[in-house]
Amino acid sequence: MRAVDIIIKKRDKQELTKAEIEFFIQGFTRGEIPDYQAAAWAMAVMLNGMTAEETTNLTLAMAASGETLDLSKIVKIAVDKHSTGGVGDKTSLVVAPVVSACGLPVGKMSGRGLGFSGGTLDKLESIPGYRCDLSTEEFIRQLREVGIVLTGQSADLAPADGKLYALRDVTGTVPSLPLIASSIMSKKLAAGAQAIVLDVKTGLGAFMQTLPEAQTLARLMVDIAHLAGRRAVALLSDMNQPLGHAVGNALELREAIDTLHGGGPKDFREHCLEIATHMLVLGEIAAEENTARQMASQAMTDGSGWARFRDLVAAQGGDLTYIDTPDKLPRAPIVETVPAPRSGYLSGIHARIVGETAVLLGAGRAKKGEAIDHAVGIIVHHKVGDYVEQGQPLFTIHANSPQHKETARAHLLAAHTWSETPVEPLPLFYGIVR
Ligand code: URA
Repeated sequence: MRAVDIIIKKRDKQELTKAEIEFFIQGFTRGEIPDYQAAAWAMAVMLNGMTAEETTNLTLAMAASGETLDLSKIVKIAVDKHSTGGVGDKTSLVVAPVVSACGLPVGKMSGRGLGFSGGTLDKLESIPGYRCDLSTEEFIRQLREVGIVLTGQSADLAPADGKLYALRDVTGTVPSLPLIASSIMSKKLAAGAQAIVLDVKTGLGAFMQTLPEAQTLARLMVDIAHLAGRRAVALLSDMNQPLGHAVGNALELREAIDTLHGGGPKDFREHCLEIATHMLVLGEIAAEENTARQMASQAMTDGSGWARFRDLVAAQGGDLTYIDTPDKLPRAPIVETVPAPRSGYLSGIHARIVGETAVLLGAGRAKKGEAIDHAVGIIVHHKVGDYVEQGQPLFTIHANSPQHKETARAHLLAAHTWSETPVEPLPLFYGIVR
């Protein structure tokens, strides 16, 4: 077999066999197939697509390109969750401890923020000492002994995806549905997931801006899971406005802590409950959704989810005094609340602009590896559909320089749009793909 023939076949819109996909991915992982051929192949896939079977074979080949975890001796059904990324999405910080408190051990490998979309690891690293670089042995031990792990993706898992993603990033081949779906699912399969709850976000602050695109990605990922012998559901969720109120690492961590104490914003609580419900059903902790929801709701209010979060932070070296007294968490030197410039109904709070403004303040990174400021960010005080009086707090900026604060103020004022007449609140979810 030759790499060039596989590229030509895809260029000519033909379906690749399992053997051809495996040959290509193995050769690329070992460095025998050079980047320029992999880039040409990725572009051919981007332009000509792949069938569900090809995408599944690609996913399995990438999952098998490195170490694969077998969690079956630790947890009967290992359930993972994955969000396609958004603004203010701190769901894993709440859902992992809540689900663990309900009796389903959760071992999750998360990512860092990139661009306008935040990442769980950056939020956790607001806690001094918290380690996100557990080895595979540490991951397995902690899952067995503590029943909850939230760490970074091990470089040994699905290395083909890491290499391919870096190439896609610089060759205009990121927005390809088969490449996105196989990239996400290969990591989940390699990390030992037997069942996966996918949170596929759609809207202004999401990768998939339209509902049909999100539905197609969701269907594809669920089909891949099934073809690979795993269980999966995908929830289609709104990302037109930020989730909850807080955007920025330590600010989001505080909001997650409030939520684990039975408080937190209503939309965020509901979002967490829905994800946790499906995890508990897939993990066979609850026989049906109503029971699962009651269990999750109880763990969010009776302190058991919070206790699991403390166990997690302690196990990973984090200083518990910072989460027990969240005022100790990093705080920005400049905190300014901006009042509403007019009265009216909020018709939009542009999630992407809010996310990009958080990056501008220093909460995120434009390029992999850049340093971030855990303290800075934004509190958005309202939701689409709210009636706001002129002069009421609209948003609060946490900044580390007066210049950043001023730029953020202008962007955030522009992100809020108004209507004279009542506006329907945005739905939290648009549907489910099973
Ligand atoms: N997230 C991933 O892990 N991979 C993609 O290709 C896109 C989003």
